[in-house]
Amino acid sequence: MMRMPVVIANWKMNKTIGEAVEYAHLLRGSIKDIQGVEAILAPSFPLLRAVSEVVEGSGIGLAAQTIYWEDRGAYTGEISGLQLRDAGCGYVLVGHSERRRYFAEDNQVVNRKVHATLRHQLIPVVCVGEDLRERELGKTLGVIAEQMEQGLAQVDAGGLMLAYEPVWAIGTGEAVKPEEAQEVHHFIRNKMETLCGPEVAASTRILYGGSVTPDNASTLMAEPEVDGLLVGGASLKWDDFSQIVLKSARSEK
Ligand code: PGA
Repeated sequence: MMRMPVVIANWKMNKTIGEAVEYAHLLRGSIKDIQGVEAILAPSFPLLRAVSEVVEGSGIGLAAQTIYWEDRGAYTGEISGLQLRDAGCGYVLVGHSERRRYFAEDNQVVNRKVHATLRHQLIPVVCVGEDLRERELGKTLGVIAEQMEQGLAQVDAGGLMLAYEPVWAIGTGEAVKPEEAQEVHHFIRNKMETLCGPEVAASTRILYGGSVTPDNASTLMAEPEVDGLLVGGASLKWDDFSQIVLKSARSEK
C-alpha cells in the first residue's frame, strides 16, 4: 500500500494576509521541483482565500485549523465546511490539543467535526496524543485508544489522516524519539485496523507533530510508520518549512 508523505504547516494564530501571501509565493517557488511529498498550509480563517489564490495549481494543499459541524445558521463566530470548501480548503485539522485544552473540545466534539468534515468532502487530520501527566502514568496508548474509539465513532470509510501529537512535545523543543513515534504510530495503525478494517488502516497516513524542525525531520520520517509531519513553530518561516518538505520527500511507503 502506497502512502505519499505529507507535511502540514500549522501556522496557528499567526500572520497577516500580506505575510501569508508572501510566504506562500516564496514556498511555491522553492518547492516546485520537489517530487514525492505533499505540502499543505493551515492558515487561520481570514487568510485562507488569499493563500488559496497563491497556491492554486501548485499542488500545495490548504487546510483549515478547525470547523463547526453545522452547515449554516445562527452560530456566531463559527465556520462551516461549506464555507471552508468555498474558501479553497481541502483539509481540516480536527481535535488539535490546543482546541481540546483552550476550547473544551472533547472526543464527542471531535467526532461531530470529523463527520462534518467528511460530509463536505474535506479530509480531516485528526490529532491525538497524551499529555505529560498521562505519559508519566503510563497511559499513553490507553488515552490514544479512547481518543480514536470516540473521535472516530461511526467513521468507517477511509480518507482521513491521523496525527500523533504528544501534548508535552508541542512547542517545547522536545520532540519524541523517532523509535517511540514508530511504536505509537504502529499502535495507531493497529487500532485503525480494528475500527475501520485492514485496507483503510494500511492506506491511512499517520503524521507526527511536536517540535519538528529541519534538523529532526529526516530521522522522524525515516521510521516506516511515520508518513508525515505536522509542524507548528518551525513552519512559520517559509525557508525552514521548505527544508522540512524537502527532507520528507522520498519514495512512498
Ligand atoms: P510545534 O507545534 O511544531 O510548534 O511543536 C506542533 C503543533 O501544534 O501542531
